[in-house]
Amino acid sequence: MSEQEGIKLTSLSSKGGCGCKIGPADLKGVLSHLAAKGENPNLLVGIDTSDDAGVYRINEETALVQTVDFFTPIVDDPYSFGQIAAANAISDVYAMGGKPLTVLNIVAFPISTLDKSILADILRGAADKVSEAGATLVGGHSIDDKEPKFGLAVTGVVHPDRVRTNAGARPGDKLILTKPIGVGVLTTSIKKDQLSSEEIERVTTVMATLNKTAAEVMEKYEVHGCTDVTGFGLMGHALEMAKGSNVGITIACASVPMLPRVRELAEKGFVPGGTKNNYLHVKGAVAFPENMDQIDQWLLCDAVTSGGLLIAVHPAQAEELLQELVQSGVEASIIGEATDQQAGTIVIV
Ligand code: CO
Ligand code: CO
Ligand code: CO
Repeated sequence: MSEQEGIKLTSLSSKGGCGCKIGPADLKGVLSHLAAKGENPNLLVGIDTSDDAGVYRINEETALVQTVDFFTPIVDDPYSFGQIAAANAISDVYAMGGKPLTVLNIVAFPISTLDKSILADILRGAADKVSEAGATLVGGHSIDDKEPKFGLAVTGVVHPDRVRTNAGARPGDKLILTKPIGVGVLTTSIKKDQLSSEEIERVTTVMATLNKTAAEVMEKYEVHGCTDVTGFGLMGHALEMAKGSNVGITIACASVPMLPRVRELAEKGFVPGGTKNNYLHVKGAVAFPENMDQIDQWLLCDAVTSGGLLIAVHPAQAEELLQELVQSGVEASIIGEATDQQAGTIVIV
């Protein structure tokens, strides 16, 4: 253990920014000025579809999957932070149906005031996840910054015909989610010293788990669409799927797996700003049940770090895929389905 005396990594975020993802509403106006994908036929997935990663065809057999993700510490243990940041960044390659190949570290660290062993532990945590993913660290870049940040740029490969996007779901498909939600409320609660060490370990393990097994298991099934659930929350990413695929989505609230104590901690006020922003962004396109209170509506929108895959699978194969995921140790559940009703919206039942 190299934790510097009295230093909590999560307390080092500077005032003014939360270190969380910039929301879709803010991003939209900024990104709309960038070139659209039509200009290069080899760009199979670009920035115009709100997908997890870019996909660029090299030849008939191979396309590159490229993505980058970094953020401020969300847990205090540096090794765990490194693991989570790596699992989170690599996840976007899995969500596109790809295999991660190489990674670059992105480091911001207050090198003159924080013990160097903390950075070493962050990098070691990431390196362990990278090797678990079967990928190779090829380099990185670091800057001296009073607020620590860490993440990875990841390059993967996928067959051009086997790219999974959030735009392929079809009416009738069942939706499988491969990790429980509630991570945003719990990580906010960590910063406010509300969790026991066992509870911190539980949510850390969920975030540090690679989506590798889930991605490998789904490979042989008739999966029409896939994305991973991260900063925009389950509702935000499901809505991107509904819009991208031009389907309606129905989600059974009672089937959505939630980590322990999330509701209780949300009632105490530990709902992150990112979660409330997510709610405001999606609420016009989500029909919540009339009797569902504000807290449960927020929880379905809870900002996630390193969440599970949201998989749209042919209904005839859903039960078998679910069984194989569960037998492989994945915390998967069927949470809803795609419909031909009210395309581009979500109904919660
Ligand atoms: Co993603
Ligand atoms: Co991402
Ligand atoms: Co450089």
